[in-house]
Amino acid sequence: MPIKIEGLSYIYSPQSPLAKQALWDINLEIADGEFVGLIGHTGSGKSTLIQHLNGLIKPMQGKVVVDEFDLTDKSTNWRQLRQKVGMVFQYPEHQLFGETVYEDVAFGPKNLGISEAEIEQRVIDALKMVDLDYDSLKDRSPFELSGGQKRRIAIAGVLAMRPRILILDEPTAGLDPRGRDEILDQVKRLHTEWDLTVILVTHSMEDIARLATRLIVLEKGRVALDGTPYEVFANAEELSRMGLGVPQVTALMSELSKRGLAVKKEVMTIEDAEQEILKIWESK
Ligand SMILES: Nc1ncnc2c1ncn2[C@@H]1O[C@H](COP(=O)(O)OP(=O)(O)O)[C@@H](O)[C@H]1O
Ligand SMILES: [Mg+2]
Repeated sequence: MPIKIEGLSYIYSPQSPLAKQALWDINLEIADGEFVGLIGHTGSGKSTLIQHLNGLIKPMQGKVVVDEFDLTDKSTNWRQLRQKVGMVFQYPEHQLFGETVYEDVAFGPKNLGISEAEIEQRVIDALKMVDLDYDSLKDRSPFELSGGQKRRIAIAGVLAMRPRILILDEPTAGLDPRGRDEILDQVKRLHTEWDLTVILVTHSMEDIARLATRLIVLEKGRVALDGTPYEVFANAEELSRMGLGVPQVTALMSELSKRGLAVKKEVMTIEDAEQEILKIWESK
């Protein structure tokens, strides 16, 4: 399901004194199987942009096409679209409602007209994907569980729809480092094992550096940078002007390069940095 966005602009409360243009002429194509990190300061338009991709916000100006669904076309089958484009909102645990974990995760598939056996299988698979134990949790109330577990149940509910595109809006917000790493690992597995196209919204470069195949940086509603993580991190100064950090090791290498050492600036991992520094060391 490739995604195509052309000339997309969006204004909240147009023709009112509170009018606020959130997106300006966005042009993007996202191919099947990409893992996109969508990055930007608070208010840069990340949430507004992704809500266009499953029709929660209708294009006001410009075009959005997701696979065969033209979202400017009023006769689009929104239900089918939303089944294919799974959206995990910020703090998704706030939307849990089921009396049991099973009921919550099964809610979406129950509306698909599939057999109870298939629904159960989907719940089992979805919980497994987020590392939660089906047998011990299925009859528990989701509200008794920890914050991290609740969030994973909410994600399982989206996965149970078997989406082809998974969009997550700041899925690690408010979690401790362990909870954050668990969720990011699971998302990574979804990309590789379920072959999903992933769009992960974050304002943390550190989170996304290791995972994404592509980074798109929004600034004030416009695409400011777009490329591989290496390409994007080569713009350390521009990123910091936008109030975005680069991974610490990238900042270090950028500084070394500025001071005249012949190291690559585009370094994201400690191992790469070690290689680069050893190269210089050994050539002396
Ligand atoms: N419902 C809304 N009504 C009015 N303005 C909004 C609304 N939602 C977002 N905005 C404004 O649109 C801009 C982009 O917001 P948003 O897409 O939420 O950014 P991000 O997700 O990157 O923080 C911001 O200036 C924000 O204040
Ligand atoms: Mg947001």
